[in-house]
Amino acid sequence: MDEILINGGKRLCGDVRISGAKNSALPILASTILGGGECIITNVPRVVDVLTMGKLLGILGVKVSHEGNRAVIHAGTIESTEAPYDLVKTMRASVLVLGPLLARWGEAKVSLPGGCAIGSRPINLHLAGLAKLGADISIDQGYVTAKAARLKGGRIYCDTPTVTGTENLMMAASLAEGTTVLENAAKEPEIVDLADFLVKRGARIHGAGTDVITVEGVRELHGGDHEVIPDRIEAGTYLAAAAITRGDVTATHCRPNHLEAVLMKLREAGAEIQEEKDSVRLTMPKNLRGTDVRTLPFPGFPTDMQAQMAALMSLAEGTSVVTETVFESRFMHVEELRRMGADIRVEGNRLVVTGCKKLTGAPVMASDLRASAGLIVAGLAAEGTTQIQRVYHLDRGYERIEEKLGVLGAYIRRRPAGASH
Ligand code: EPZ
Repeated sequence: MDEILINGGKRLCGDVRISGAKNSALPILASTILGGGECIITNVPRVVDVLTMGKLLGILGVKVSHEGNRAVIHAGTIESTEAPYDLVKTMRASVLVLGPLLARWGEAKVSLPGGCAIGSRPINLHLAGLAKLGADISIDQGYVTAKAARLKGGRIYCDTPTVTGTENLMMAASLAEGTTVLENAAKEPEIVDLADFLVKRGARIHGAGTDVITVEGVRELHGGDHEVIPDRIEAGTYLAAAAITRGDVTATHCRPNHLEAVLMKLREAGAEIQEEKDSVRLTMPKNLRGTDVRTLPFPGFPTDMQAQMAALMSLAEGTSVVTETVFESRFMHVEELRRMGADIRVEGNRLVVTGCKKLTGAPVMASDLRASAGLIVAGLAAEGTTQIQRVYHLDRGYERIEEKLGVLGAYIRRRPAGASH
């Protein structure tokens, strides 16, 4: 297990190239199961979760080859329709093979994901939706098994907008007989990216990005090429790092229109932000001002930026209330930020953050992907050295983070846990 050491206090300046979106690459890779032709996916981030998805596809018999940020995939045959527990337990997003396996091969057996650091993470809405499409669903010994000779289109209403649930159901409906209407669908840009890729391969999908998605099922999908959209959460993370260090950073190869809620909050906190077509430049001329944040499904403020925002508000003037409405317990970063001197009170699903004059470096523990990102943001501004342990959490979703931060001027390095230098 590696750890990352940061000597904080250095202003970040310069350009950082944003990688492809992990949360778009994952469903796009899973969707290759739906058809037999060759798929060439570019701008794929080299992060652990993407490699895990590649491993899972390999177990199923899909041929995946990675060359840098490019993946070439052939899913002409299948050797298994089972996603095993020891792989699913490492990555919840493995559930994304459920819909494609069922739709293409008539059956799927996927280990239930179990809980994780940010909550129970149920998949009841995925399963209810697949049942509406005619699947026979059973749960036994921690696995869900779904069967259907051929799915039939239907009308599905999701009680709450679910990102991977919408993706699973949109993929399954692509090969169903007849038309499916998905209501209260999630609207994240990653869903639009997946729909664009499926349509290139012959799917008939309308309304992705709105809360009503209509899918006319087709018999089969052919191959296709696709470039994954930039990662809006990675971009937001680097902009928060620029803000907390009072730096001057331009995030390039990103989509400002995927970041509107985040940019609005950073401006409220005192940042000056210039948006171009595919880049965002942030400078911090004034002191950080406290502002309130409420996480919501897209286009609201993303829950995946909550920890980074809590870290930023720890050094802002005044008091900020950060409300987490998407997950039931996504505050694993709070105790660690407190160890660095942050003044944060947890009140139910809200954090009351009282800005303090400084944070001090300390040994802290990463617990989940975005909590770890919050600790990196805090460490970049803290006085002294912050030692972030268990950085494998970070490697799941951030490509070469210490390299990218180092180019921006951060004093940051990685070393094996327990090394003395
Ligand atoms: C996706 O997770 C993302 N992961 C998460 O990013 C992100 O935090 C989340 O969406 C919210 O934006 C991927 O895209 C791979 P949900 P997902 O289903 O789809 C409840 C990261 O850091 N729910 O939209 O699992 C659920 O408990 C990760 O990159 C049900 O109750 O999230 C939650 O409270 C972390 N039943 C809410 O809906 C269901 O069947 C939203 O969850 C499904 C979800």
